[in-house]
Amino acid sequence: MILAIPTETRAGEQRVALVPEIVKKLVDQGWDVVVQSGAGAAATFSDEAYTEAGARIAPDAASTVSGAGVIVKVNAPSAEEAAGYPEGVLVMSFFQSGQSTDALAVLAGRKATVVSFDLLPRISRAQSMDALSSQATVSGYRAGLAAAEHLARFFPMFMTAAGTVPPAKVLVMGVGVAGLQAIATARRLGANVRAYDVRAAAKEEAESLGASFVDLGVKAEGEGGYARELTPDEIAAQQAALANEVAGSDVVITTAAVPGRKAPILVTAAMVDMMGPGSVIIDMAADGGGNCEVTEAGTTVVRNNASVVGLSNPPSGMPTHASFLYARNVANLLELFSNEGSLDPDWEDEIVIGTTILKDGAAANAAAAELLGVAHAPIIPPAPPADEPAETEEA
Ligand code: NAI
Repeated sequence: MILAIPTETRAGEQRVALVPEIVKKLVDQGWDVVVQSGAGAAATFSDEAYTEAGARIAPDAASTVSGAGVIVKVNAPSAEEAAGYPEGVLVMSFFQSGQSTDALAVLAGRKATVVSFDLLPRISRAQSMDALSSQATVSGYRAGLAAAEHLARFFPMFMTAAGTVPPAKVLVMGVGVAGLQAIATARRLGANVRAYDVRAAAKEEAESLGASFVDLGVKAEGEGGYARELTPDEIAAQQAALANEVAGSDVVITTAAVPGRKAPILVTAAMVDMMGPGSVIIDMAADGGGNCEVTEAGTTVVRNNASVVGLSNPPSGMPTHASFLYARNVANLLELFSNEGSLDPDWEDEIVIGTTILKDGAAANAAAAELLGVAHAPIIPPAPPADEPAETEEA
């Protein structure tokens, strides 16, 4: 069966969905891998490297996807791209809910099966397939480095003959996968790091990496290990309590997200105005609307004393390793959907069920059904035998 890797079309995207090492593994399994010429170039993977791994190179997007049984991408296709996909194809990518409705409508019409990494259950067994985590790891690292690059001061403490320099004070807001990596990166560079999150579990994780935790008493655990949206009262209490923390920091790195919602505002314009000369805000949530009121995605806004950096698509900025990790996630998830180079999804597996938005064009996911205005057609796994209780796994 043909497994196609078209070139990413999102502006500025440098990643590619499969790297040669993983192509070789898939070819050995029996897949006929077709890669669009130049698809890996920006991530340092040449056409020759893919050919050596056993892939065929196609000259353009149309010939790459022609006859494909599976198409793998980093970013969801546009509606125009999707219109050129074969009927009944399986498309695996990030289909951030609400942002790909047109493409999903086209794919539903083409009876496609759509699998999205955004919906991967955050359970132990799914960790090797967790592209949200692998890409967030890259993003957090990039955010830490971007902060050090933009700050006109040292991160570490320096004791020199010319005098002693105190360490930079870094505040990381949002301690998920990306926030933890931002903490680790800032700590490796020697900064004094404080961290804030609304999930109780984040305290121990931040402290284990050498950050001190800012506990404001607002707890907002949601479903699936994620944070829930705060109430207006909670937001007001949070912003009042955070103002001094922000004002006392040289660097603020924000990574806070709530699935399916616009990023919460954690840093208001008034807080930015309280920051000291040369201070820096790195907003990693810029593409989702930003955690800072003055953020503009993909650019740096200078306001009073502070530079507010709206990081856009941060994992694309380190495309070799971002692609390397993504490709492993793809191969691991694809195993649950295939057998020896052909599609054979295990429709009893909670990971297969959880990540499938469309099954043969039908809306298997409730949110997608609502967005598309069609009936929800959930995938129902067979009930276990009466004497065997269903196994569930928690994160
Ligand atoms: P995310 O990208 O959805 O959000 C980033 C962080 O922002 C989260 O820690 C969240 O609590 C925080 N946040 C949201 N609203 C906030 C607010 N108003 N103020 C301050 N902070 C706010 O999170 P991510 O990185 O995807 O992780 C989600 C959860 O999944 C975490 O609990 C993580 O530990 C867990 N996880 C579990 C895995 C597993 O396999 N067991 C793998 C990866 C993550």
